[in-house]
Amino acid sequence: MNTTLRSVGAGSAVPKVAAIPAGVVTLADHENHARKVLDENAQAYFCGGAGDELTMHTNSYAWSTLRLQPRVLQPMAGGHTRIQLLGKTLAHPILLAPVAYQRMAHPDGELATAHAAAALGAGMVLSTQSSTSLESVASTVLHPSNSATRGPLWFQLYMLNGRGFTKDLVQRAEAAGYEALVVTVDAPTQGYRDRERRANFKLPVGVSAVNLSGLPVAQNAVLKPGQSALFDGLLTTAPTWDDIAWLQSITRLPIILKGILHEDDARQAANMGLAGIVVSNHGGRTLDTAVATADVLPRIAQKLAGDLPILVDGGIRRGTDVLKAIALGATAVMVGRPYVYGLANAGAVGVAHVLRLLRDELEVAMALCGCAILSQVTAKVVYQSTKL
Ligand code: FNR
Repeated sequence: MNTTLRSVGAGSAVPKVAAIPAGVVTLADHENHARKVLDENAQAYFCGGAGDELTMHTNSYAWSTLRLQPRVLQPMAGGHTRIQLLGKTLAHPILLAPVAYQRMAHPDGELATAHAAAALGAGMVLSTQSSTSLESVASTVLHPSNSATRGPLWFQLYMLNGRGFTKDLVQRAEAAGYEALVVTVDAPTQGYRDRERRANFKLPVGVSAVNLSGLPVAQNAVLKPGQSALFDGLLTTAPTWDDIAWLQSITRLPIILKGILHEDDARQAANMGLAGIVVSNHGGRTLDTAVATADVLPRIAQKLAGDLPILVDGGIRRGTDVLKAIALGATAVMVGRPYVYGLANAGAVGVAHVLRLLRDELEVAMALCGCAILSQVTAKVVYQSTKL
């Protein structure tokens, strides 16, 4: 692989270079190999979804059922995968979704991911629940020497246990140099993750949500007989649209809502002047049987009519999936589990390999569909049978 991992911040140690395991040439190969590398506990966390994992599987199935429409003899010279997003030019439309506790996949954890993202020009979204501090990750990615080539660095925010702690976290992210807040709104309560429950999943010693130290302990509501622990307890403090408006009032950073599946929610985000949305069902980890992201994307894109950039994630495993997402109205995509599998298999090099594979596959798919640049990728790229 022709990838250097040295073009990143000088302040942080460059992780050891590991080899990509023999025979690993696709994201599916990375997944299969990672299942041999990760222990049962980590597998239950990274590989699983909510309930019967139907949404998790349907996400990738939905992309796979779309058929591409090849075109021939189109001029391709000078083609590229560049996009514009939040006023910046990105080398390609593939970003790394926020995934918690990456040090459970590899000792280098989020720092390895950050090195790979910076070297491959990929955007990275750091989870609130990262197992490495948000400041360390920022100093790994943000460096004058790579400012022209790195992708954007965004902080994923869960609005937890009151506004005071959230405000502190936002101010830390701003001070560290994060360029946007990705507010995850689809998990006010965690879905039942049966695989984790069966495996009796526990965070290993030494892996924790380090950004959350000092988080005030949620006071368990004293429930009256017949009251619900959810509706009369946990959800009494869950964020609402008013909290998003409050967040806008306390930060200068653009706000992107992650976890949108309905076009009316997308429209509300646009009406409030937010900076973007991520069409996402959390990789099938919250509500099982929730609709696949590929299925709702066209409707949301139609409703937004270009008013907001749309990112989409869930089940993207091939460059052809990236192309289909763009054809259905996305500006960019995010991947979650695939890069964690790369991380487990070969640290930073594994993450870089996953990114490189997706980008190379995207270029091939573009060329074979007659698109030299991504603005030529329209709905016509996805085959639709019509009555003749
Ligand atoms: C996630 N995801 C997630 N999302 C988020 O906003 N904050 C988080 O901390 C996490 N943590 C997390 C852990 C694990 C193990 C997984 C698999 C996922 C969801 C993630 O950002 C993304 O939406 C999905 O992973 C996308 O689906 P794929 O690419 O994994 O199919």
